[in-house]
Amino acid sequence: MGIFVKVATAGEISANSGKLVEAGGKQIALFHVEGKYYALDNNCTHRGGPLSEGEVMGAEVECPWHGAHFNLESGHAVRPPAAAGVACYPVRQQGQDIEVEV
Ligand code: FES
Repeated sequence: MGIFVKVATAGEISANSGKLVEAGGKQIALFHVEGKYYALDNNCTHRGGPLSEGEVMGAEVECPWHGAHFNLESGHAVRPPAAAGVACYPVRQQGQDIEVEV
């Protein structure tokens, strides 16, 4: 089991958007959708596009480079050109702190 690391404060990320954070030496894309937070590896498995800069579309994020989609809850690739999913991390909110387990 990993440890939970504070990566953001509630309210810091607008609804339906993402932010690049770092935890445990990893670059993580943290998303805020309808009051819930999701954490995926920032680098798209296609050519490394920054998912934290992608558009959130419902339960998915679209890679800003070539349009692959990843599920926010599972990290699964759900639309080409990415074939493989990205790692996804547990997120919890403790008071105002948003923490990711790495
Ligand atoms: S780098 Fe993400 S779709 Fe190509």
